[in-house]
This record gives sequence, C-alpha cells and structure tokens, in this order.
Amino acid sequence: MKKYSYLLLLAAAISCKNKPATENAGSFSITEKAFGKLDTSAITEYTISNPSGMQVSIINYGGTVTKLITKDKAGKDGDVVLGYDSLSGFLQKGNPYFGALIGRYGNRIAKAKFSLDGKEYKLAVNNGANTLHGGLKGYDKVVWTATKLPGDSSLQLVYHSKDGEEGYPGNVDVTVVYSLSSANELKIDYKAKTDKATPINLTNHCYFNLSAGADSTINNHELMILAAQYTPVDTSLIPLGKILDVKGTPMDFTVPKLVGKDLDSVQGGYDHNWVLTRTGKGLEKIATVYHAASGRLMEVYTTEPGIQFYSGNFLDGTLTNTKGGAKYVKHAALCLETQHFPDSPNEPSFPSTILKPGETYTHTTVYKFGVK
Ligand code: GLA
Repeated sequence: MKKYSYLLLLAAAISCKNKPATENAGSFSITEKAFGKLDTSAITEYTISNPSGMQVSIINYGGTVTKLITKDKAGKDGDVVLGYDSLSGFLQKGNPYFGALIGRYGNRIAKAKFSLDGKEYKLAVNNGANTLHGGLKGYDKVVWTATKLPGDSSLQLVYHSKDGEEGYPGNVDVTVVYSLSSANELKIDYKAKTDKATPINLTNHCYFNLSAGADSTINNHELMILAAQYTPVDTSLIPLGKILDVKGTPMDFTVPKLVGKDLDSVQGGYDHNWVLTRTGKGLEKIATVYHAASGRLMEVYTTEPGIQFYSGNFLDGTLTNTKGGAKYVKHAALCLETQHFPDSPNEPSFPSTILKPGETYTHTTVYKFGVK
C-alpha cells in the first residue's frame, strides 16, 4: 500500500514536471521586469505570485510595493494599492511614500533631535520643524539590494545605512523580506543590527483602497483597530506624551466602523498612532479592513505595539504618472503603518525604540487578504 501511494506520487510529479510552465497553475513564481534606471542603478520590478493568483510587485527603489493584486468576491482580480505606472512617478517631488519601506525612523521625531547617552543628535528637518519618515533621503529613497529567496515566494532586500546618515548614529544593516503565502498573506519581516545605539522604527507605507479603483475614497471601508487607546498629537502631529482612551470618541474603532462615519469630526483627518491591545509580544491580529461592495477583506497582524492609521489627508489629486492616470484625491486610500509610537526617542514613557550593538531589531507584519 505504501509503495503504491509512493508510485502514484511519483507519477503525479513527473506529469506535472512535463507540463509547460504556464499550465503549472498552483505554484509560486517570481518574475523580473526592468523598471528604469536611477543614476547607475538598474531598478527592477519583482512580481511574486502565489498558487491562487495573488500577486505582489516590489521594486528595489525604496523596497516599494508597486502592485498588490487580490480577488474580489466574484473572483475578479484588482490592484488594491496606490502607485504609479513608471519609476518617474515614484521619483516625483511630493510622492507621499506610496508603498515604500520607511526608516530609519517611521513617523515624526519632534524638532528633528533627540538625546541619547548624554549626547544630542540633530536630524534632517523635512516636515515643519520636525523629521518625518527617516529625513530627506530615508530608506524609501535608496536603492536596496534585492535577492530572490529559494522557494519562489520571498524577496529579500538589504540596505546598509551609514553612521551619520540623516543625522542618526551608527552603521545599521537592514534586511527586509517580503513573502507571499498560499493563504494570501503578504508578510513583511524586518531585521536590523547596529554598531552604535540608535533609534529605529521600520514600517511599510502601502496606501490601500480595497475597491481596486472603483471608489475614489476609502470612506466606505469598514475599519476595526484593536486598540483601547491612542496617542493624541499637537497641530504638527507630534504626540503630546499622553495616552488617551478611544471610548466615546471618533478614534474608537474597537467595533468595525466606516472610516467616513466620524472622519469630518477629526481635525485634519485620521493621522494618529493607536496603542494596540496586545496579549503578548508575538504576531497578533490587530486590525481589519472590509470593503462590502467588492467583498474584499484585509486583516493586519503585527508584532509591533502601535499602528499609524492615516486616512490619506494630504492627497489632493495633483500627483502625476499615477496608475492609469487615476486622480488620487483626499482620502483616496488608507495606510496602516505598524510601528512603535511617533517621537519615542523624546518620550521616555513610550516603549523604547533604541537598538544597541549586539541586539537585533525584529518586526513582522502580515496583511492577509480574503473575501466575505
Ligand atoms: C504618515 C504621516 C502622515 C503623512 C504621511 C505621508 O502617515 O503620519 O502625516 O506624512 O505619512 O504623506
């Protein structure tokens, strides 16, 4: 009996092997496409496909997710992230970090400075008086070294960030691995090492619109964030240092709610960090987004303590080279940036973001797609 099933397996394997690659549905693959040049660096777009046809495309410029193809409830494919048709789109001034990896420090550090071990460090100023998303040339604007990993389901990106880059101390070696699973999960694993103590807060800046272009805004997306508290901010979006309860406020997403429901009552729109309600330090489901018309559902899992929910408030329809010439108007998409809290280096009561020599920074986030 054992021998018989072994033979059957062998026969199946041989018949599968003899089929042309295109008929080999049900396997993982990574394809490559030239995506332009930046100075002397070739920019390549890598597309990972999973057995059920979900696809993610990533370029080595900024480690940026350029496309994310998922099925709606009718089985129709659609691209659920904002982006551009060409590299020039991503290079344009004012590209609001579409799909990019963010570092060395995601979100803001007040007055672009912090003190560590008795020394003050001055950072690049790029957002009012503050530093945002790593400074003038953050990890979103550098060329990463990309390697396809065995198994055809993961792409590894490596970047060496020099001591003093954008004002931050220490040489930092960063590795990010994007993987697709057969369960329609896009997993992002981050790792970093340093040779001097430094703040670090890595994230990804995908702009999601689960309607895949059908709805011009995300007002009809239903959002749940598993967080009983959030960090209130001043007018320049710097945390006040307090942690407030969401209960009874427009910030309450503990029960799924349409994004548009209370949007107008939040000054400037949602652009805040939520303090996740976690049971431990592992990978936990902390948010869901549902778009009823398409049936698309996205679940967010992370190991991080916070999430920045940004409702695309600064989009104003002026970006060029957008996919298919789309107008990305205010609230055209939402970002769910899993992270530590903004301005942590200046807020001793927030969970520490300091990485020391000998330690390894790790962070995993999963965006899982389905329909209901
Ligand atoms: C983050 C910030 C926002 C904005 C966007 C990019 O989400 O919190 O204030 O800067 O990035 O435009």
